[in-house]
Amino acid sequence: MGTVEWSHLPEDVRPLATLDSEQRIAHIRAKRWVDYPHAARTLRRLEEIYVQPRSERMENLLLIGQSGMGKTMLVRKFERYSSVVLKGTGTFRLQPVVVMLMPHDPTAPRFFLQLLKAVGVPPMDTFEGSAPRETTVLRVMKDLQTKVIVIDELNSVLAASPRQQRQFLQLLRWLSNELRVALVGVGVPETRHALLSDDQLRSRFMHLELPTWEEGADFKRFVTHLIWSLPLRAPSPIDSARVMQLLVGRTGGITLGVCKAIERAAIAAIRSGSERVDYSGLQDHDVWDGLEAPVAAGRSRQQDGRR
Ligand SMILES: Nc1ncnc2c1ncn2[C@@H]1O[C@H](COP(=O)(O)OP(=O)(O)OP(=O)(O)O)[C@@H](O)[C@H]1O
Ligand SMILES: [Mg+2]
Repeated sequence: MGTVEWSHLPEDVRPLATLDSEQRIAHIRAKRWVDYPHAARTLRRLEEIYVQPRSERMENLLLIGQSGMGKTMLVRKFERYSSVVLKGTGTFRLQPVVVMLMPHDPTAPRFFLQLLKAVGVPPMDTFEGSAPRETTVLRVMKDLQTKVIVIDELNSVLAASPRQQRQFLQLLRWLSNELRVALVGVGVPETRHALLSDDQLRSRFMHLELPTWEEGADFKRFVTHLIWSLPLRAPSPIDSARVMQLLVGRTGGITLGVCKAIERAAIAAIRSGSERVDYSGLQDHDVWDGLEAPVAAGRSRQQDGRR
């Protein structure tokens, strides 16, 4: 079989279609990036945050979206874009964008620990006592020439007491003023509440939302590109209205659900030999195991009842 047969696939994916089933399944399970307009827009806003000159008043960003919408993937992509390695006599690294995970306990020592972990500073080098000190953090951030600190899962701070939350916001303000770095907070929609109690910080955060999918041209394009990235040997007839309805309805428009359902259907298609994802394949119970949004599941049952 020649690769020309797989003309339904983009050229760079065609060679993958020649691989055996298990190799193709492994490829389907691997992470991939599919572009879409809201992602491109978010990356443009992140880029703006990144290129702003250092000042007393940095513009910050709060990126919000439902769980599974692809926020972490987006900020990791942003981090990769901006990573620089300078090669001189030795190799030293600059880390203009640091992506860290918000600790559950929002105290300064915990936060610093996470921040240093995110830049790969071994704890032994920095913690003479038990907790990293402000001076250490300032030195490391200056050495790495960090311009943007991305705090993923910022919503974790909402679990802390109001007093702890206020102290944490003070800490953020200190970081931003002392280092002149821009802050990017990432979290579920409730994260908005986390910044409310600090007027100054609140006014310095631009809000950007990654909305859930709705049926339409953008969604159709996203699903089509996703399918094209999978090495199936037959073309998948998935751009019909009923397929779009099924995907949006069952997942509640969450990217994770859409991607997982299609990946499972694609793996099943390789195993069965049908080699394509279609409406009936996407109706299989196994495809949806654990993926349905509770509200969406209720809604789709109602719709089924009406039909
Ligand atoms: N642009 C994309 N291309 C391909 N797959 C994507 C994309 N965005 C999201 N996904 C899929 O959705 C999954 C969830 O993405 P991610 O973990 O970034 O979501 P999240 O918004 O950070 O969720 P949470 O709030 O729960 O942390 C990914 O593992 C991937 O399967
Ligand atoms: Mg995430």
